[in-house]
Amino acid sequence: MNAPLLEVSSLWKSFDAVDAVRNVSLSVTGGEIVAVIGPNGAGKTTLFNLMHGELVADAGDVRFDERSILGLPTHAIARRGIGRTFQVPATFASMTVRESVALVRSASEARDAAVVSAMLGIDASSDAILARLRVADLSNAHCGALAYGDAKRVELALALATKPRLLLMDEPTAGMTPRARRELMQLVVDFAHADNVSVLFTEHDMDIVFGFAERLIVLDRGAVIAEGTPEDIRANPDVRAAYLG
Ligand SMILES: Nc1ncnc2c1ncn2[C@@H]1O[C@H](COP(=O)(O)OP(=O)(O)OP(=O)(O)O)[C@@H](O)[C@H]1O
Ligand SMILES: [Mg+2]
Repeated sequence: MNAPLLEVSSLWKSFDAVDAVRNVSLSVTGGEIVAVIGPNGAGKTTLFNLMHGELVADAGDVRFDERSILGLPTHAIARRGIGRTFQVPATFASMTVRESVALVRSASEARDAAVVSAMLGIDASSDAILARLRVADLSNAHCGALAYGDAKRVELALALATKPRLLLMDEPTAGMTPRARRELMQLVVDFAHADNVSVLFTEHDMDIVFGFAERLIVLDRGAVIAEGTPEDIRANPDVRAAYLG
């Protein structure tokens, strides 16, 4: 057996009186598409924030590619190969504040579009990512003016442009129409299969979860209550009681 790409062991995080993440262990192997599901407040976003360095765990470990990433800042975790998208779309999410200011400042000082392109490294490979995510027609649009669904795809392009080996997505399809949800997830899965990227995502839409995840992990009140294939989870009485109803 190959070592898992991501290995979370006995992770804990409390906020005041709430144990948001309680003794969570999970793993993701190379190329796998895994969903984390559970009711509102189950601890999904907190878990993602712990794995990607936005929050520091009280106890436990997170190993990526066989090395601990616990306590590393988010940009260092991104450079190790974990990309992420957020529950609220965030452009520039993978850059530090200093990098984004430096980028904008140097771009504003250059007078010529060709110089800006060269400086930013705009080339065929960045255009190829835009084309693969079907946002090539938005290349020259301003990020702040994008429609919500387009912003979600641009955010995904930014996350994938860092060439992650693992992509974390927190509610990637929230707020979209059923058809747009499926289109976005199909783009993600096609990209992941083509480039051998693992995907760990949270989602409340069960059509998306059962349509796209190869394996499911169920959280309830901070703890993992079940894990398995979509068929296992659908048939699990604890999951039905806690979440699926
Ligand atoms: N910064 C914080 N301070 C205090 N409590 C927090 C904080 N962040 C999360 N919590 C609490 O931790 C628990 C888990 O919240 P979290 O946002 O991780 O859940 P979630 O599974 O992502 O929910 P949702 O499906 O609504 O996005 C909740 O009880 C929440 O109120
Ligand atoms: Mg959440």
